[in-house]
Amino acid sequence: MASTTLICDTQPWKDLKAHTEDIKKTHLRDLMNDKERCESMMVEFDGMFLDYSRHCATLETMDKLYKLAEAASLKQQINRMYSGEHINSTENRSVLHVALRAPRDAVINSDGKNVVPDVWNVLDKIKDFSEKVRNGSWVGATGKPLKDVIAIGIGGSFLGPLFVHTALQTDPEAVEFAKGRQLRFLANVDPIDVARNIAGLNPETTLVVVVSKTFTTAETMLNARTLREWISSALGPSAVAKHMVAVSTNLTLVEKFGIDPNNAFAFWDWVGGRYSVCSAVGVLPLSLQYGFSIVEKFLKGASSIDEHFRSAPFEKNIPVLLGLLSVWNVSFLGYPARAILPYSQALEKFAPHIQQVSMESNGKGVSIDGVPLPYEAGEIDFGEPGTNGQHSFYQLIHQGRVIPCDFIGIVKSQQPVNLKGEVVSNHDELMSNFFAQPDALAYGKTAEQLLKENVSQHLIPHKTFSGNRPSLSLLLPSLNAYNIGQLLASYEHRVAVEGFVWGINSFDQWGVELGKSLATQVRKQLNGSRTKSEPVEGFNFSTTTLLTRYLQ
Ligand code: F6P
Repeated sequence: MASTTLICDTQPWKDLKAHTEDIKKTHLRDLMNDKERCESMMVEFDGMFLDYSRHCATLETMDKLYKLAEAASLKQQINRMYSGEHINSTENRSVLHVALRAPRDAVINSDGKNVVPDVWNVLDKIKDFSEKVRNGSWVGATGKPLKDVIAIGIGGSFLGPLFVHTALQTDPEAVEFAKGRQLRFLANVDPIDVARNIAGLNPETTLVVVVSKTFTTAETMLNARTLREWISSALGPSAVAKHMVAVSTNLTLVEKFGIDPNNAFAFWDWVGGRYSVCSAVGVLPLSLQYGFSIVEKFLKGASSIDEHFRSAPFEKNIPVLLGLLSVWNVSFLGYPARAILPYSQALEKFAPHIQQVSMESNGKGVSIDGVPLPYEAGEIDFGEPGTNGQHSFYQLIHQGRVIPCDFIGIVKSQQPVNLKGEVVSNHDELMSNFFAQPDALAYGKTAEQLLKENVSQHLIPHKTFSGNRPSLSLLLPSLNAYNIGQLLASYEHRVAVEGFVWGINSFDQWGVELGKSLATQVRKQLNGSRTKSEPVEGFNFSTTTLLTRYLQ
């Protein structure tokens, strides 16, 4: 495809557009009867099982999607990513988060240099430091062991680590390693978040990790200064050296802030913020909490999917299938949103993390060459664990808007409970819903069925479910560090597949950059040295009124 050619101008895109008319005539009720079709829509890799048979798609649709992938040079684009080409062209950077979890002997080049040894130097440094903190050979200013950690960071320097921490919190193996320790996350610039984070903690036994790729993000830096003050007012300014460490690509600013560069853990500009959980951004706080061996398992899980994504044929490639189906739903069937529904409370922070990975990556209006897109790209991602979501927004998904759903289930619970006298275990009760919901969405309920159930006539329209609502089911054997890594990498690569097909740059975020600078003018107006009587100036009528009211 020539660089300025949009994917919608290719024949496979046009064929898929025409094909949507055929698909609109089908119903999942009928499609689900075709066993051969369903069997072809199930894929397994390394314990992960994907069933996408409840998508409004036939085998013909899949063939057409593979042709679309070819037209988008998907294979070549994946290879360009793995070989360190500057595919993030607007920032002139490689995109190599796969290198963060590559085995020690792997060779992955960026700008002619193998980056894997640098990755492992930092991992070894984290292992060493986290072991010292955990075994009490690194102590605080008053000689006490540091058992609590507050990680300060926002966006990509927060959501991924929070997701992984939350997922590990009840994993029996991780629980053992975390005994007596706490990990908290301070993200919001709202002082309430500071208050909540330090509540019940003693500066003497607390280590603060400042996580910021740029070390300039306003929220993070203000929170870092606030906790520096919390530490130094309690223990004296020299205590900062023992109680504050940093994760950043900008080691000069780390030093300027007053953190010893020896206590800084580097990462690189070829790691995007939202793809950085496998760098020191996630590895440091998680190793402090759970020990490095648990985090290494997480990295191995992600690496297994990286290899699968790079080498498996498209028909067997979980991230590629996930990505192509998303493009099908968004660009051809016109479904703009996606619900991420893990049937595991441990995955409660998965949807918020994927929300950033997906929406910050693919929420773009122009192609990678700057051509305005004549089709929609990106998806609205949201989600909650089942069964909580069932009592909240599922009503809309069953009878209102069509929202393709990702049902994520776990075979073996992290914390099984079997009560005497109950028909099923608590986990089986949860999973009954995981298995039942996709069919309810696919099949719906007809007026004839309701009549047979003697439902009164006037309620029939209200109790009818149209069905034909797509979903996919992803079943993991268990939820340990390894599986969590697999899940993360599968979704990261899915987002890349979508972006590659849509022809956009999934690795920049100019929209968020704008927001970062917008507050500057207001901040000047709120400057404490202004007198209250000074008029608010330089804003439109609405903002002037609101600011005046706030200042009074
Ligand atoms: O939210 C926008 C963003 O630029 C993210 O991409 C990034 O992860 C986050 O801000 C935080 O940036 P930093 O790690 O530089 O503090």
